[in-house]
Amino acid sequence: YLVDKGNHRHFMEKEIHEQPEVISHTLAHYLDFTQGTSKPLDLPFNFADIDRLAVSACGTAYLAGLVGKYWFERHARLPVDIDVASEFRYREMPISRKSAAFFVSQSGETADTLASLRYCRKEGVPIGAIVNVRESTMARESDVVMPTLAGPEIGVASTKAFTCQLSVLAALTIRAASQRGTITAEEEKALVRSLSETPRYAAQVLKLDKQIEKVSRELASYKHVLYLGRDTNFPLAMEGALKLKEISYIHAEGYAAGELKHGPIALIDENMPVIVIAPHDRIFEKTVSNMQEVAARGGKIILITDQKGAAQATVKTLETIVLPDVPEFIAPIIYALPIQMLAYFTAVFMGTDVDQPRNLAKSVTVE
Ligand code: G6P
Repeated sequence: YLVDKGNHRHFMEKEIHEQPEVISHTLAHYLDFTQGTSKPLDLPFNFADIDRLAVSACGTAYLAGLVGKYWFERHARLPVDIDVASEFRYREMPISRKSAAFFVSQSGETADTLASLRYCRKEGVPIGAIVNVRESTMARESDVVMPTLAGPEIGVASTKAFTCQLSVLAALTIRAASQRGTITAEEEKALVRSLSETPRYAAQVLKLDKQIEKVSRELASYKHVLYLGRDTNFPLAMEGALKLKEISYIHAEGYAAGELKHGPIALIDENMPVIVIAPHDRIFEKTVSNMQEVAARGGKIILITDQKGAAQATVKTLETIVLPDVPEFIAPIIYALPIQMLAYFTAVFMGTDVDQPRNLAKSVTVE
C-alpha cells in the first residue's frame, strides 16, 4: 500500500474507494470460496464448546462488534455480550468459564479496549483480537490474532477498517455456526457465496457518488440529523451518526427505528432530516410505518434502501438512494458505504478538516 492520497482529495475518500479490494483480501483470508466453507482458524477453542462470547471495543469498532452480535446470535445461536470497552473494563462482568472474548480494534492500541482484554485474560478465558495492526499490543497479548487486511488507515474517521472488521466477524459467524451445527453445509455455502459477492456490490455502490454528493449538499444546511434503522441497520444508524458528527460537526443521533416513539419523535420537524437505513428485509414494513410517522410531522426523509424497498416504500422522501438488492447477510457491509459517503461529502461541503477532525485522535491510547 502506497500511503499517499493518489487521485483523491482526502485519505478518507481514498480509503472509502479501497473497500472493494480490501474487503476481498480480508474475506479471502478466512473463506475458501472454491469449497464454499470457512477456513480453519487457529482458535484456542471450538465454538461448540462455549456458551457465550464477550465482545468489547470503542467507537466504530464497537459498532462493528454490535453488528457481529446480531450475526452470531442469529446464525450460530451463540449469545454475545457486547460493551464499549470503557464500560466493560470497570463493570466487573461475571465471565463464564465456557466463554471466549473478542476485542475489535483498528489500531490494537486503544487504552480502554486493551484494559478490557487484560481483564479477560485475568479471568482466564481465551482471547481473540480482531486488529488491523498486526504488530500491535492487542495482537501480542491475545491467544489468536484475526487480522483485518485493510492496509494502513490514515483518515481519523474509520471507514475501510470498519467494513473489514465486519467481514472478519461475518466469516467468524460462519465458522461458529458450522462448528455449532446451526447451519447445514448448504447454508454455509450460501453464506460464503453471498460474502464473495460483497466486493462487487461495494464497487456498484461507490458509483452512486454523484447522487450522494447532491444529498450531502442539502444535509450540510441542517444543524441536526437523525439516523434510524432496525436489526443490523441499527448499529449502522449509529455508525452513520458517528461518522457525520466526527467529520462535519453536525449533531447527529442514531436510533433503533422502533425507539422513535420513545423520544426522538418529539424532535421531528422540517428542520430535522431523518436518514432511514432500510433494505427490504424481514422487518421492512415496520420501518415504513416509522417513516410515515416522520413524514406526518413534516420530517424530511432520506431513505437508503434497495430496489425492492424503493418500489414498496409508500412514503414521500426528500431523496431515495437505491442500492442493489443484496443478500440480507451482507447488507451491513454494503450499507456502510453510502453512510460513509454521506458523511464525507457533507464534511467537504462544510469545509472541515476531513482527515484530521478537531479534537479527535486516530488512536486513543490514554484514558
Ligand atoms: C478513535 C478513532 C475511531 C475509532 C476508535 C477506536 O475514536 O477516531 O475511528 O473507531 O478510536 O479505535 P480502534 O483503533 O480501537 O479501532
